[in-house]
Amino acid sequence: MAENPAKPETTGTNGKQLQKLATDFLIRFYIVFKILKLYAENNELIQEQTELLWQTLQALKEETEEISFKIKRESIFFNQSRIKFSLSNYPIFKFLLEEFRKRDIGLLSISPDISKESLLKAVAIICHKRTSDSPFEDLMAELDQQEVRGLNLEKLEIAERLPSPQKSSARLFFLSILHLHEISERNKENETIRLNTTRRLIQSIFNHLVDNESFLLGLTTIKNHDEYTLNHSVNVSLLAVALGKRLGLTRAELVDLGLAAFFHDLGKIDIPLEILNKPGQLTEAERKIMELHPHQGAEKLVHLRDFRRLPVSAIHVAMEHHIKEDLTGYPKYRLKSDVNLYSRIVKVCDFFDAITTKRVYRKKTFTRAEALSLMLENIGTEFNPVILKSFVQMMGIFPVGSVVLLNSGELALVVESNQEIKYLMRPRVKIIVDTQGQKIDGPEVDLIEVDLETGQYKRTIVKEIDPEDYDLQVPDYFLVQAAD
Ligand SMILES: [Fe+2]
Ligand SMILES: [Fe+2]
Repeated sequence: MAENPAKPETTGTNGKQLQKLATDFLIRFYIVFKILKLYAENNELIQEQTELLWQTLQALKEETEEISFKIKRESIFFNQSRIKFSLSNYPIFKFLLEEFRKRDIGLLSISPDISKESLLKAVAIICHKRTSDSPFEDLMAELDQQEVRGLNLEKLEIAERLPSPQKSSARLFFLSILHLHEISERNKENETIRLNTTRRLIQSIFNHLVDNESFLLGLTTIKNHDEYTLNHSVNVSLLAVALGKRLGLTRAELVDLGLAAFFHDLGKIDIPLEILNKPGQLTEAERKIMELHPHQGAEKLVHLRDFRRLPVSAIHVAMEHHIKEDLTGYPKYRLKSDVNLYSRIVKVCDFFDAITTKRVYRKKTFTRAEALSLMLENIGTEFNPVILKSFVQMMGIFPVGSVVLLNSGELALVVESNQEIKYLMRPRVKIIVDTQGQKIDGPEVDLIEVDLETGQYKRTIVKEIDPEDYDLQVPDYFLVQAAD
């Protein structure tokens, strides 16, 4: 079996510290960049902020000799590791990504001995707007002319400049999270929620899904732990639309379903974070509060000013997504037929996304395949059989986003399920760890490929593995490499 690859530097305490410092550096860089647009370099505010940027650089220097930021698709990498954004700093990253891209900057590396003056000059030169056809060359010429030392730039590769459907799917995914974030804020302030925007987002999700189901399902491996409910709601919405499509719902119905799924946990806004994120078991009283969220969600939806634009099924879904097929769960319903079809669809997607996400109160996080097998054990009692079977078939035995060990000794990521029943065990995979245990940017291969000489399959899955055991960051592959 492949050996455990060496831990990359973003894990462990030192890695976390580096991530934090690199993030701080980018935020400081952004601030200096922004105010340089308003003031001259000798302005006091700029001097002050440059000092802070400089200090962050000194702190980084103490942790690592290499200081480089690389643009790769929708992400910024510090040295070899993708910088993880949170909702609060995502707009800053997005701004920097776009500004770097406009100037064709693919890599910015800073030598540890750069002077403070050079650093400020460099930011100022990068900050200049360039309208020529060769912004990168102009930028380099100016850095040279002004004798800026200690800074190295590399040009963005052509492939990185082209938009791709995956890029826009990923953007859509994050836009949805931001939108839901705004909705929760507005809800707290009792402001009007723009349901039209929500509807448009779900319609685009539907359009992307038609062309690119595997990729969108891959995006649901992204788990943002700081903003669990938001991220979770978007994932559930994506899964529900994909599942609804398989169940034969029309386009209009799918948009309603997507909207309903998007808002299923709206009632959680009012639950105190101490309860929502409590590491241990909830007390009886806390559990009661928690179980109020379906009611509270339904009530919130009814009170939306834009209520008429919302499908009635959204209220059902908010109310009913914790009711099991045998009518246990909460709240209590007496008749099975009262439970809406959309609620049953959302229940399956909700459960799957929840148990595959690491949470402080959950002792075990399930891999994607383990989650399906656990769910199948409860077919008919907890989940509607027809819906669950469709879901399992959509995800495949090894769902998109699972990591598997192959009989070749390689580790691979499932990127597309094979829909033919006899090939369910043979999805399309991307090799990510070679036989030596080295992480690689390997090829995508189809597991139905047969070796012509021996007549045997070239590769076969031995078992699914937990990506955490190997420090593999599954979402990165979808965000970073999917645009190949
Ligand atoms: Fe819920
Ligand atoms: Fe949920």
